[in-house]
Amino acid sequence: MKKNTPSTARQKRSEHAIDLLTDLTSCIPYLEKTGYLVRVKSAVASKYELAGIAKRFEGKKCVLFERIKGSKYPVFIGMLWNRDIVGKLFGISKKKIPFVIAKAIGDWQNNKDKLSSPIQMKGPANEVIEEDVNLFKLPIPVHAVKDGGRYFDSSVVVVKNPETGVPNTSIHRMMVTKKDRLTFLIDPDRHLGAFLDIAEKRNKPLQLTINNGVGIVPWLVSTIPKQGDGKYEIANHILGKPINLIKAQIVDAPAYANAQFVIEAEILPNKREMEGPFAEVTGYYASREKRWVMRILAITHQKNPVFHSLLSGQEVWNAVGFTAEAKIFATVRKKIPQLKAVYLDYGGCGFYGAVIQVEKNKSGVGKKAIKETFNVFQSLQRVVAVDTDVNLYDPNDVNWAITTRFNPDSDLIILKNQIGHILNPMVKINPNGKGGTVTKMGIDATAPYPKTNIFERAKFMDVNLNNYEINE
Ligand SMILES: Cc1cc2nc3c(=O)[nH]c(=O)nc-3n(C[C@H](O)[C@H](O)[C@H](O)COP(=O)(O)O)c2cc1C
Repeated sequence: MKKNTPSTARQKRSEHAIDLLTDLTSCIPYLEKTGYLVRVKSAVASKYELAGIAKRFEGKKCVLFERIKGSKYPVFIGMLWNRDIVGKLFGISKKKIPFVIAKAIGDWQNNKDKLSSPIQMKGPANEVIEEDVNLFKLPIPVHAVKDGGRYFDSSVVVVKNPETGVPNTSIHRMMVTKKDRLTFLIDPDRHLGAFLDIAEKRNKPLQLTINNGVGIVPWLVSTIPKQGDGKYEIANHILGKPINLIKAQIVDAPAYANAQFVIEAEILPNKREMEGPFAEVTGYYASREKRWVMRILAITHQKNPVFHSLLSGQEVWNAVGFTAEAKIFATVRKKIPQLKAVYLDYGGCGFYGAVIQVEKNKSGVGKKAIKETFNVFQSLQRVVAVDTDVNLYDPNDVNWAITTRFNPDSDLIILKNQIGHILNPMVKINPNGKGGTVTKMGIDATAPYPKTNIFERAKFMDVNLNNYEINE
């Protein structure tokens, strides 16, 4: 690993602020103190019941399930299911978060050897080493009623590139099939898939750690696609300080020192077993098919660990949304400086639909920005461009722009036969079963340039209601 040098991040954060971003143990009491957490005191079943209760709080408050039937450990859910919670943890307005991540991506790209993490022998995550490798001791939920089994759906995989030794991080859904076995999903184009190809050609297992219960920053950074090996260091640039890693007990891959649980595993080469169904980000079930297999070799955890889970819905829309917005903004703005903001709306599952806001100072800017946005984030199927006087976060305002500024004859872009994301049911899977294609649509809902008076929005006086006596 590379040597540490002083921070390159402009913003210096206090130790407490860093703990809130990197450590669930600090984050949970803070969320409770600030009114963003509810505690479920009754004992609940991790199969169906837990997720059923959590679903009632989706988009609102995080939920801590204190007592899980058949397990010693509590479960925390909801860290990202509304953007206010994430803003609270970052200590900034939720709208600024994609810009902070975008800046850290740029800082990391320009200073790749400047801020890497030390690997220590000991950390909270290996305070307790389980003697018996048994996943059934953990409160791993069965979420939706037709899910195929217990799922890890919020854990960060850390794996080294077998050729360079540089670690990469990503999140994968993983279904428990035996006390020491999982089946899991690798989407096309993932680093984990590329690393496994190398290992499988050598007929060797690929070792990794599964980090459950990491703080929001390492978690979010692991969801930034296609950044190249070592992207976990983007987290260090957000924090202005390296996050500590620890050496695993058995496998050749590091783990997060502050994870609640670390599960050490190896992917079995050229082995596939049934995985699924699983309620996915789209709100549909992913199919049950033969997929990749892991064997668990060791489990370590903190003294009083909390298991972290999520519901595939608003949490994932926010997660993918934040990081894709950051990536699109950082990349497209280099070519199109008129780009002001990007939002991956809930209606697009935080994955397939984007609204981009542009300062239209010449004609064609909206369409150009739409095309570049599609190029940067392959999963997108629909991109809408709006002017700076439109609130891109408000679906009604975006609809207003489409209704009053979009002419389908001249402002519609149709892109046929594009690569799509396999989880979206509109994507036609290729005959070889790998990847798929879809038709994409761009809607340029910016007013024609130069903007004439007919496109001027009506405005009213801005008043402070506190200055008036009003009976409601
Ligand atoms: C909650 C959540 C679950 C995810 N599950 C999977 C999955 O099962 N398989 C997969 O390939 N990608 C999954 N992803 C997406 C990847 O983790 C993400 O795109 C990551 O950045 C890929 O990293 P890479 O480009 O370095 O390979 C998931 C993302 C989130 C937020």
